[in-house]
Amino acid sequence: MDISAPPAAGWWREAVVYQIYPRSFADSDGDGVGDLAGVISRVPYLASLGVDAVWLSPFYPSAFADGGYDVDDYRDVDPRLGTLADFGEMTARLHANGIRVILDIVPNHTSSRHAWFRAALAAPPGSPARDRYIFRDGRGPDGMQPPSDWPSVFGGPAWTRVRDGQWYLHLFSEQQPDLNWQNREVRDDFLTTLRFWSDRGADGFRVDVAHGLAKNLAEPFEPLDGQAVLASTLNGTHPFWDRDEVHGIYAEWRQVFNEYDPPRAGVAEAWVHPSRRWRYASPDGLGQAFNFDLLEANWDAAEFRRVITDSLADARRDGAPTTWVLSNHDVVRHASRYGLRTGDHLSSTQNAKAWLLSDGASAELDRGLGLRRARAATVLMLALPGSAYLYQGEELGLHEVADLAPEVLQDPAFARSGGAERGRDGCRVPLPWSSGGPAFGFSAAATPHLPQPAWFGPASVEAQERDSGSTLALYRQALSWRRRFRAAERLEWMPGTSDDVLHFSRPGGWQCVTNFGPRAVPLPPGTVVVASSPVADGLLPADTSAWIQG
Ligand code: GLC
Repeated sequence: MDISAPPAAGWWREAVVYQIYPRSFADSDGDGVGDLAGVISRVPYLASLGVDAVWLSPFYPSAFADGGYDVDDYRDVDPRLGTLADFGEMTARLHANGIRVILDIVPNHTSSRHAWFRAALAAPPGSPARDRYIFRDGRGPDGMQPPSDWPSVFGGPAWTRVRDGQWYLHLFSEQQPDLNWQNREVRDDFLTTLRFWSDRGADGFRVDVAHGLAKNLAEPFEPLDGQAVLASTLNGTHPFWDRDEVHGIYAEWRQVFNEYDPPRAGVAEAWVHPSRRWRYASPDGLGQAFNFDLLEANWDAAEFRRVITDSLADARRDGAPTTWVLSNHDVVRHASRYGLRTGDHLSSTQNAKAWLLSDGASAELDRGLGLRRARAATVLMLALPGSAYLYQGEELGLHEVADLAPEVLQDPAFARSGGAERGRDGCRVPLPWSSGGPAFGFSAAATPHLPQPAWFGPASVEAQERDSGSTLALYRQALSWRRRFRAAERLEWMPGTSDDVLHFSRPGGWQCVTNFGPRAVPLPPGTVVVASSPVADGLLPADTSAWIQG
């Protein structure tokens, strides 16, 4: 399908979106860092996978202090990753294959190398250049203490002092100064950026830390008093997360999105209470918001059922289709989460993180079990109404690379937490394309920017293309059936044969059944068209999902 012709306005409502982490996807020039020309070379792969869109994590000029989420210039491409011409060619090739393009916009903070921040440092306190950021005097004698007790998400204080004694706010690393969204120039500049990329063919935007832009900057600053740094409140009163004023910003963005035909799509990365998600996903706002509830659920039939039921009820009430995601560049890969055996409930992201802290190479991980469950979870997720986000490498069933040596870790969370957090590098290791050779086909360089483990060889695309039972083959098969089945946003629960079984039907006569339990259960009547593990004798084995037609 060529989408140069005007596509349907609601294309994103049921889309399968594949997240590309560009530095780790494919390297065309042998410098060990993935690039846009690498993406171009893999367009046939993306087309053969059968995804509707790709979302590219940031590829803008950056020092990569936070993997590119520290942006020096929002309207250019980092020279190590390519050029604007490469972006144009990549977008054209993807569009010619029916794949839409979603970019990552990082509005909460720039990098400390951004021209605005340099100007702010060169300008005196109280100047217009400083007003684009959040500079304040410190507390205590000589202003030696930070203006508030706010912690950085990556550990340590959220304030850093500059030479003349003032402090600036950074909710993430000190290389990521927060912008002041009460400043009109900041707002206008982002509208320019949205038009810049929309004019160059971007179909939508993933909005980084969408719930953080509006802050209560009245002084004295509200104390956090040790509240969890990631927790937002239920009534919009947290000093910096999920405040009601943030929606005024997205109302302006929506007007820009609607200048285009079809309107540009938006998806909020907002870690907020589910009851407040709809405001980000409203048609007057970004239109869609990530729902991380499935990603945070344990491998447990009751938990999955509750998340699915609640999310679909929210979607019906709010008129915005829900989104699903099991893995992304910020969390432990789901094949590893579901393989953590100690205790009953280790598969949620928080617990998996705790496992990573204690011992990356722990024997607690049962790789086979984790992969089996991950395949079942994905087949279940792809059967749900709404759109699904996949993260590069999950189609290969990759596990977290949990035993990276401390000296290669890049995530600022590692250093800022004094090593207490290992961070997110284990899911960002460059993809294995071939079974052997330098960097398993990722790059001509022998040493990619993060080292790949030996087990990447048998997990590579090349190895899996030879195996009809591979995870890659399963993803291709499931995505192709999903296209055929795609229908109204409806799901009907069927009585499960046991508490460990979830079973639902979708319009058009197809059903999905998942066995979370340890014993095989009878399969419902009909033809099995997709199964996450082999089925035989009318039985659905443990930790398996199947799609049934008829
Ligand atoms: C988002 C990104 C994450 C990044 C952070 C700061 O949560 O997904 O990777 O570190 O924002 O930009």
